[in-house]
Order: sequence, then structure tokens, then C-alpha cells
Amino acid sequence: MPHNLLKGKKGIIFGALNDSSLAWKIAEKCYAEGAQLVLTNAPIALRMGEINKLSEYCGNAPIIPADVTSMDDLKNLFTKSMEHFGSQVDFVLHAVGMSMNIRKHNHYSELDYELQHKTYDISAMSLHRVCQTAYQLDAIAEWGSIVALSYIAAQRVFPDYNEMADAKALLESIARSFGYHYGIKNKVRINTVSQSPTRTTAGNGVKGFEGFISYAEQMSPLGNASAEECADYCVTLFSDYTRLVTMQNLFHDGGFSFTGISHAVIDQMEK
Ligand SMILES: NC(=O)c1ccc[n+]([C@@H]2O[C@H](COP(=O)([O-])OP(=O)(O)OC[C@H]3O[C@@H](n4cnc5c(N)ncnc54)[C@H](O)[C@@H]3O)[C@@H](O)[C@H]2O)c1
Repeated sequence: MPHNLLKGKKGIIFGALNDSSLAWKIAEKCYAEGAQLVLTNAPIALRMGEINKLSEYCGNAPIIPADVTSMDDLKNLFTKSMEHFGSQVDFVLHAVGMSMNIRKHNHYSELDYELQHKTYDISAMSLHRVCQTAYQLDAIAEWGSIVALSYIAAQRVFPDYNEMADAKALLESIARSFGYHYGIKNKVRINTVSQSPTRTTAGNGVKGFEGFISYAEQMSPLGNASAEECADYCVTLFSDYTRLVTMQNLFHDGGFSFTGISHAVIDQMEK
């Protein structure tokens, strides 16, 4: 049940590709909690047209194309968003990821470095680009909030997560480093949410993903966090109830990150 937690707030949502995207669910919840939204994705992703349905649901939210590796696109996005809202933006969701080497089925010990550059640019440096663009345009209001989505492979080895593990480590580091500067400049907070494995287009690209999901489910005292629950958590991070939380990587994973072994897994091993 909505609580109007984001009443009067204005946000930009990156990364809603289809209705299984984490960003899709987060946009729906933000709208239900009273926010006004601008939706964005890479031009090629927008061509699929699915995002129009989300826009309609969210009160005909404008859709502004932006490739996160293009500074011109990002400048245009923030400028047009402020024109649309008639004010600065209060929150930004960065839900963008793409591994070029995973797409090519390149093993971690046989990475193509050009592709690796692109992976880092799209999946991690893009957070810096988003923050720097907003910072320079003074596009985010005081006490604003930026959230990017991460995964625990930034801290622990999940071999098939491949180069994305390193991209996520960089993403989390950028949230910390930029969080310092943006906090000082304008009291803007920046955090990453480290989400349980979730069935989405990006998630399904990871080899052995079903195994990941069921292992995580058995290792989490509360079970895996769903996309809807991730959306609820992000709403709180965009709301005024978390204004002093910044530069953190916040695990949203049902307790997976701090569980060494579970009885469910021990039982499996003893079979
Ligand atoms: N699904 C999971 O298990 C899981 C778990 C933890 C974190 N995450 C993270 O959540 C975020 C969202 O992923 P998702 O699982 O919802 O999958 P998704 O495939 O629905 O979303 C990924 C989005 O990135 C966008 N994108 C790719 N290249 C882009 C570019 N150059 N410019 C702009 N946008 C671009 C895609 O169009 C897509 O909308 C990612 O950062 C992902 O790593 C996912």
C-alpha cells in the first residue's frame, strides 16, 4: 500500500528495458508513492518500444534517450528533465549494466580488453558520468539521492559473473568517492544497493544463473529479495527518511551476504 513517501519528488529512472527489469518495478513504485518521473534508456533499447507502456502507467512520463557512455546525451537528459519538471531533480536511479565479454562467451582468463573497456564504461564509469553531469549542471536538489544497483560479486568470487564483478567493484567505489564530493557540495547522497539475483534480461545473460538463484535462495535466511522488494527499498532511499545515509553499499539480499552456511545447504551436501 503506497504511503506517499515521494510526494512532490522528481526523479530520473535509467534502465527500464521490459517489465522484468528492476528499473521498471522501481519506476512503478516511485510513481505509486507520488513521484513525477522521466524515463531514459539507450536509443537502441528504446526502439523496442516497450517503455511506452511504463510511461503511460507513470502518468505519461517523458522518455528521453541517453546512452550512458555519451556526455552529450547525459547533458541533454538532465537539461531536458529540468525543463520538464521546472526545477532540479530529487533522485536518480542508475540501473544499467552490460558485459560485452559475457555476451561473447569469453572466459575471465581470455578477456578481450576492448570489450572490457566498454563493459566498465557502460556498467561503472557511467555512474561517474551521471554524477559529474548532474554536479556540473547543478541538476540535483539539496538532499537529493542517487542509487545504483550492484551485486555481491564485487566482494566475493562468483566465477561466472566474470568481468562484471570488477565493474561492480568500480561502481561501488565511485558511489563512495563521488558521494563525498556531492555531499559536501549540495547534501546529495549516493549509495549502491546490492540486490539478490533476480530474473531479468541482464541476469539471464550470466552462465548458470538458475543455479545462482537457487543457491542464494537456500543461503538467505529471509530468501532472495524480489524485484518488487528491491523497488520498496529504493523508494526508502529516495525518500526523506534516509537523508543521512550516503557512500554505502547496502545489501538487499535476505541475509545472504552475512551467512557462512545454512542448514538448507548442509542438508544438500549430506545427501
Ligand atoms: N538481475 C540481477 O540478478 C541483478 C542483481 C544485482 C544487480 N543487478 C543490476 O541491476 C541493474 C539493472 O539490471 P536488470 O537486472 O534489471 O536487467 P535489465 O537488462 O532489465 O537492465 C539493464 C539495463 O541497462 C541498459 N543499458 C545497457 N547499455 C546501456 C547504455 N549504453 N546506455 C544506457 N542504458 C544501457 C539496458 O538497456 C537495460 O535497460 C544492473 O546494473 C544489474 O547489474 C541485477
